[in-house]
Amino acid sequence: MSNFKSLVSGVGNLSKITKYYDDWSENYDETLKLWNYQAPKKSIKFLKETINTKPKNILDLACGTGLFGTELKKIYPKSTIYGSDISKKSLKITLGKKIYTKLQIKNFEQLHHFKIKFDFISLIGSMTYCKNFDKLFANINKNIKKKGFVLFTHRVDLWKQQDFISILKKHQKTLKINKISRPLNYLPSNKDFKNKIKIKIVLLQKY
Ligand SMILES: C[S@@+](CC[C@H](N)C(=O)[O-])C[C@H]1O[C@@H](n2cnc3c(N)ncnc32)[C@H](O)[C@@H]1O
Repeated sequence: MSNFKSLVSGVGNLSKITKYYDDWSENYDETLKLWNYQAPKKSIKFLKETINTKPKNILDLACGTGLFGTELKKIYPKSTIYGSDISKKSLKITLGKKIYTKLQIKNFEQLHHFKIKFDFISLIGSMTYCKNFDKLFANINKNIKKKGFVLFTHRVDLWKQQDFISILKKHQKTLKINKISRPLNYLPSNKDFKNKIKIKIVLLQKY
């Protein structure tokens, strides 16, 4: 992508992010394959090593074109997976993959309203775009079951800048920290990320 540089430094406000991912949607999967996008597979590995329960209902926030949903379906073929994202065009591509039972165009900082509560909520490769963590965690808290798990990735460079551990500790009363991975490669075949910008994988559990 010609405007790729902004991916490291941020894309801008919500409408700019929406347009960015809408415009990228048709070759997003192909580009991420070229960059050797590691977050979905590494998150699944981390998950399998950490929990042994099989979630019945899953909500994949910022599901994009369904790259993480595809991996979820492999390990939890019987689970019902819902997804949401702000990019309508990405969701159109996801729809064709037949992974998700329900897809919604929605900002993850807005409360999602579903008839069911979820055993597991994920947010993979997307914490970068969060502008208001309180709103995101309010949405997660509203939709997660007691004892349910929340799995997300976050860039280590942003984690440091935002003092992200303090943000997690602030929400510990409702979402306790279960496990945090060491820094892992994110987009190793991308020249701007390589082994310079890494991610951590985090698992929280609802009290
Ligand atoms: C790097 S992609 C990750 C997509 C998918 N989770 C994956 O692992 O391939 C980031 C996604 O976050 C979505 N996104 C960004 N900000 C969002 C927001 N506030 N609410 C919902 N989705 C958002 C984008 O539209 C995009 O699909």
